[in-house]
Amino acid sequence: MSETNWQVPQQQLLQQKDYAEQVRALLEELYPVPPLAYVHSYGCQGNVSDGEKLKGMLADMGYGFCDQAEQADLVLFNTCAIRENAEDRIFGNVGALKRWKAQSPKHKLLLCGCMMQQPHIVEKLKQSYPYVDLIFGTHVIHQLPELLLSVLQQHKRVFYTPESDGVIAEGLPIRRDGTLKAWVPIMYGCNNFCTYCIVPYVKGRERSRQPEAILAEVRQLVEQGYKEITLLGQNVNSYGKTLEHPISFAQLLTQIDAIPGDFRIRFMTSHPKDATKELFDVMAKSQKICHHLHLPVQCGSDRILQAMNRRYTVKQYLGLIDYARSVMPDISFTTDIIVGFPGETLEDFQGTMELLKKVRYDSLFSFIYSKRVGTKAASMLDDTPHSVKSDRLQQLLALQRTIGEEVLSEYVGKTLRILVDGAGKSGEGYLTGRTDQFLIVDFPGDSALIGQFVTVKITKALNWALLGELVSE
Ligand code: 5AD
Ligand code: SF4
Repeated sequence: MSETNWQVPQQQLLQQKDYAEQVRALLEELYPVPPLAYVHSYGCQGNVSDGEKLKGMLADMGYGFCDQAEQADLVLFNTCAIRENAEDRIFGNVGALKRWKAQSPKHKLLLCGCMMQQPHIVEKLKQSYPYVDLIFGTHVIHQLPELLLSVLQQHKRVFYTPESDGVIAEGLPIRRDGTLKAWVPIMYGCNNFCTYCIVPYVKGRERSRQPEAILAEVRQLVEQGYKEITLLGQNVNSYGKTLEHPISFAQLLTQIDAIPGDFRIRFMTSHPKDATKELFDVMAKSQKICHHLHLPVQCGSDRILQAMNRRYTVKQYLGLIDYARSVMPDISFTTDIIVGFPGETLEDFQGTMELLKKVRYDSLFSFIYSKRVGTKAASMLDDTPHSVKSDRLQQLLALQRTIGEEVLSEYVGKTLRILVDGAGKSGEGYLTGRTDQFLIVDFPGDSALIGQFVTVKITKALNWALLGELVSE
């Protein structure tokens, strides 16, 4: 499918602007002072990035913002469906707003995001949470003005969660959370269908933004003073393959790298099956692309990797790590691990432990397998007791704790460049920042340095971060 099919026509986006104006006029009638919105995005950075657009649209409609749901006139939860505990937490938070909703008919509760793309969840919300005003799906976030207008005008609940392969809506207003670091989605959706994963069902097919749109956005961010740009996608390594004029992720990175300015580039997430030597070579040559790779392996058993439909072997994965290290000796790796996938034996799990010892990740995210309705793994026999899975997770965390501490201690004595983020946690007068490798460094320094790149010498490794001191450049 060519990319032109994904784009929301300009005409439709202009119509939404018109609806936004109508909402603004209505709010001016309803509220003596601008109403406040509380928007919270759960889940991945892609969702956080969508949340910035939702806030952009709400700001256009005349909303101000607050950081507590109870103070808001409108609450919007941008939900995540990745694991059951994410969904449980969201149900809990929606439940906790019942009293707030009852306080005023003007209070509006809106839900969108990945959970809303699952019919059984929407049904449960319809039946058991009658005070939710608007539910809208992942493919229609650009229609928020139109949907909110009908909620405000008609005083009845609105549900709009169409099935779709997905869209790309360029040019939506964005209200970014920070002034230093920015998220830039380069693609949406996912075609991989890992057997445990709900994402392809709730986010639609993989679709890439036009490189020109991405480059223009990055250029503008750099001009505005942003110092760190993180490119986002479920599988950035397959960026551009389905564009009318195909381009590889490595080529896109090369073009972004050529944008003048003092900034750095990160990206996530990479799928090992699509990571290429070309990508590592571009990273190695570049001054701006950080030498950090989040490369989710999920597990260290070929049998389970196959059952997960990951389409690589442990050997191929280790080959990628070796190649990346050969061209970038200072590269750091992080990963995601799922423990207790259906049918995981002790031997499979030991394979994962062995893999951790071989790769020596800086850090990792680990999860107990969570059954997702509609995925292929949901119908697989899953007879490992939960207590065994929890025990495996604890063993994995303990091993990683040891490895992580060893890896961190190897940085002592090194001189590293960091982007200063804000106040550090190590005590009064400390600042904090991250290295290229995504490691946290706390160091004593003047708050005027916040927002700048500085060079620090690492003096000590704590178990969660490094300590350093400023080196004059
Ligand atoms: N159960 C547990 N973990 C999951 N992940 C994705 N789906 C599931 C699931 N059903 C994890 C994977 C992925 C990360 C974002 O979440 O490790 O890389
Ligand atoms: Fe959660 Fe996945 Fe949706 Fe991101 S894409 S919000 S991780 S379900």
